[in-house]
Amino acid sequence: MLSDAERTLADALASHGQSHVLRHADALSHADRKALFAQLAAIDLPLISRLVKSGAEAKTDYSAVKPAPYVALGTPAGAARAHGESLLRAGKVAVFTVAGGQGTRLGWRGPKGTYPATVVTGKPLFRVFAEQITAAEKRYGRSLPWYIMTSPLNSADTRAFFRDNNWFGRNPADTFLFEQGTMPSITFDGKLILETPGSLALNPDGHGGAIRALHASGALEDMQARGVEHMSYFQVDNPMVRIADPVFLGLHASGEGSSGEMSSKMVAKRDAAEKVGVFCEVGGKTVVIEYSDMPAELTNSLDAQGKLRFNAGSIAIHAISVAFMQRLTQGDFALPFHRAKKKVPYWCDTQKKTVEPAEPNAIKFEAFVFDALGIAKKSLVMETSRTEEFAPLKNATGEDSPAWSHQIQSNRNGGWLEKFGVKIPRKPNGDVDARIEIAAETALEADDLADIALPREIKSGEEVLL
Ligand code: UD1
Repeated sequence: MLSDAERTLADALASHGQSHVLRHADALSHADRKALFAQLAAIDLPLISRLVKSGAEAKTDYSAVKPAPYVALGTPAGAARAHGESLLRAGKVAVFTVAGGQGTRLGWRGPKGTYPATVVTGKPLFRVFAEQITAAEKRYGRSLPWYIMTSPLNSADTRAFFRDNNWFGRNPADTFLFEQGTMPSITFDGKLILETPGSLALNPDGHGGAIRALHASGALEDMQARGVEHMSYFQVDNPMVRIADPVFLGLHASGEGSSGEMSSKMVAKRDAAEKVGVFCEVGGKTVVIEYSDMPAELTNSLDAQGKLRFNAGSIAIHAISVAFMQRLTQGDFALPFHRAKKKVPYWCDTQKKTVEPAEPNAIKFEAFVFDALGIAKKSLVMETSRTEEFAPLKNATGEDSPAWSHQIQSNRNGGWLEKFGVKIPRKPNGDVDARIEIAAETALEADDLADIALPREIKSGEEVLL
């Protein structure tokens, strides 16, 4: 017997052509059936029907896409730095990490933030960030509250990791973990998918889910209560991120061409094939076009000097104002959902088990936070150096692998030491021929090494920890 609420939900499912998900409901235990109905009640069925119908709609008019303007590397930044530092000293900055993904591509079981990242001591990503935040807190004399978005895939493990590591020595009240929402996966003909008789195939709703989740979790309210005005946003996969960079924050908050709503950092793309989003201009607005959406003729197009025309690679580092996020949660703005064909395990009635498909069988919907750029009144892009700030851990081998990231970490740290006269061994291709790690406590940036006793020389193959 269905309760009234369950009957209403069953009717709604029928009117959206999704009744098949109840085919095992009668055979479920009371608790399992309750759990299934709770999952179903959380689904926005009209939205799913709209997404199914809009599948074939035309997207961006790529003929109107131009490269986005940006503040080039080396532009004098003294005033911006002073402004950013004043924001930090006034406690107006928070840190925001999106960490809803797993380290699947890296072959890591568990939240990506628990992955050992640094080149000598193998510190996990979360510790790398925590130590940088602590060093910045000491420098500016204010706490930098840290908001971390997890997903149902990893929130329990992430919380346990922070607890087991004693919140990395920081005040637990200054770390705010919250969970993002989910979206159901659907088959190519628009049907919801059962993963087991009593549960749907759901996936995290993308980092764009941050907007809703920041609001729903009370994180935005918490920021406001603390007087925070801007967030330093980054992804959990980049151990080289410069958290709360005062120059970037200053440019974002007061730079010409910025509305102070949402700004971004870019690096020149390694080559046309690099899998990064690209900053473009469409209709006078700066947007990111994801590598998978960008037509090949744009990706490969060259300028008069033979350089990539669309070379502004997104490293997924943003500065975002609290007021802007608030605005997005109040109006009827909604970020679009991007779709990806994926292999989604499904319940097979004949085999009576969950089957892992060999080929993609489903569509996953994800919203991307960078789609908010097009809603900002104006938005600024700042170029930074790849060696200084971008060594993401994405793949088990090859590009963006741990070995790749370690080399960039050593290159950056070697470069910092060279600035102070330390002799650094280099390979024929210019890479540093040693493993060098510099803790955030020692230096947040090269100039911090000025007052530190440094070795005169590092030998080829040496391991150095400062
Ligand atoms: C991402 C960007 C790409 C950028 C590149 C730079 C997207 C879609 N693409 O690519 O434009 O150039 O990084 O490194 O983001 N996450 C969540 N919840 C989710 C999904 C993802 O928190 O539901 C987090 C992950 O934990 C990770 C980040 O978002 O920190 C990026 O996700 P991923 O899907 O791995 O993006 P990439 O393909 O690496």
